[in-house]
Amino acid sequence: MMSSSIGSEHGVLGSDLDEIKGVLNNAHEHLYAVIKDERIRIKQGLEWTQLPYQDKKLIKEIKTLGSQIRNKYENVMFLGIGGSYLGLKAAQDAFCPPYYNEFSSLRKDKPRIYFEGNNLDPDTLSVLLKQLNPKKTFVVVISKSGETTETKAVFMAIEKWLKNVIGKNYAKQVIAITDPESGSLRKKVNKQQLVSKLFFRNLPLLKGVGGRFSEFNMGLLHLAVIGVDIDEVLKGAGEMAERCASCEILKNPAYLYAALHYILYKKKEKSIAVMMPFSETLKSTADWYVQLLAESLGKKYARKIQVSGGLETWQMDLDKIVNVGRTPVSCRGTNDLHSIQQNNIEGRNDKVVTFIKVEKFKNEIKVPVGDEIISGRKFSELIALAQEATVWALAQEARPSCTITLPEVSPYYWGGLLFFLQMATAFEGELLGVNAFDQPGVEGYKNYMYYKLGKTGISADISENIKKHPLVKDNKFIL
Ligand code: PA5
Repeated sequence: MMSSSIGSEHGVLGSDLDEIKGVLNNAHEHLYAVIKDERIRIKQGLEWTQLPYQDKKLIKEIKTLGSQIRNKYENVMFLGIGGSYLGLKAAQDAFCPPYYNEFSSLRKDKPRIYFEGNNLDPDTLSVLLKQLNPKKTFVVVISKSGETTETKAVFMAIEKWLKNVIGKNYAKQVIAITDPESGSLRKKVNKQQLVSKLFFRNLPLLKGVGGRFSEFNMGLLHLAVIGVDIDEVLKGAGEMAERCASCEILKNPAYLYAALHYILYKKKEKSIAVMMPFSETLKSTADWYVQLLAESLGKKYARKIQVSGGLETWQMDLDKIVNVGRTPVSCRGTNDLHSIQQNNIEGRNDKVVTFIKVEKFKNEIKVPVGDEIISGRKFSELIALAQEATVWALAQEARPSCTITLPEVSPYYWGGLLFFLQMATAFEGELLGVNAFDQPGVEGYKNYMYYKLGKTGISADISENIKKHPLVKDNKFIL
């Protein structure tokens, strides 16, 4: 990313960092003031910063629950979308061996894991339900709001599927993770629990933790089911949190990452963020990052801060349209060197590539001895060389990139990686002057669907707007 590697036309100069020293200091001071004040932290959705220090008793209970499910069921389905899905999938692929569901020798008596509720495509769900035995399947439904259409529709279909075979006791095979007070999923849980405490058991979702920042909260049961050491994940996150608390840009990896991307975005028009792990098992972590970056920083309005009675509140500044945000793209090496990389190298110079390099893989293979130049080389050596070569090739074309090095894909380092990316995103939100913890843009499609489905209680403004501005299709262009 630096001019020393790629030249001053596209790279960051030391003086660029000096120029924004004041902006960086203000961003740090504000972010830390918010994090220190519990009331504001919870109100504005920054409680995720406290997740590494969670109550040990709660973690123990989750581990026990996880092992009970693991020992009793052949299949576990996790239902959820967005922040209620992507972190779990990232953990699944990082920690369970590839082909985990296919081979019992890899699962070692653990259940098969399926993710549903992350789409309304009827094909995946109908195929899966025809294959699984409801008696041997446990269901975890995750929705913070308890209102998300995708999760709701799939859960209703699955309830019917369970009920048809198991009868009313089907609810013993369900755990809900949802808001402690509001939402229709919460209502359903409370109603079932009047019948029996074992029906629709539930885990608390902490207040002030937004979906995409919640892997260390709503993802914990999944980690427990697949037998990942939760304490190690949180330890890695906690130690990263300490490193990311420094106000010194050259000591704080999250601030440095955010500041360099901010400079390249503002001064060099690098508006595309390519996340490219050189590891198959981290591809889903790159997908998780896509949501984190897109929903946190892709914003129409600037943030307006108001203080009253010592309590800070954030609003959208409707008079200040900013339309900011870098567009995230997820891919992986070496696979996508034969796909998107051509465009990264020769297309518009508007991207910054973040590589995630893994130093030690869980397995090793050597190319058999022969007369090829690759003969006798380890795969881990070749993938490391391919990553280095890609950095070099980008630099030759004055294309910025940076590399995050993970000693290995272990719970400790993965916990640290997620926390680092979350903190970098929060800090970049401060630099851009937007609220990184809401996602108002997601409402548009939801409102339209609700309107068309005839939901009651939609605000008059929304209905009027949809009526006044119907979807326009020009038949001339429909061939
Ligand atoms: O980050 C977010 O808050 C969103 O992406 C949500 O996770 C997503 O919309 C799913 O919401 P819910 O958990 O309420 O079903």
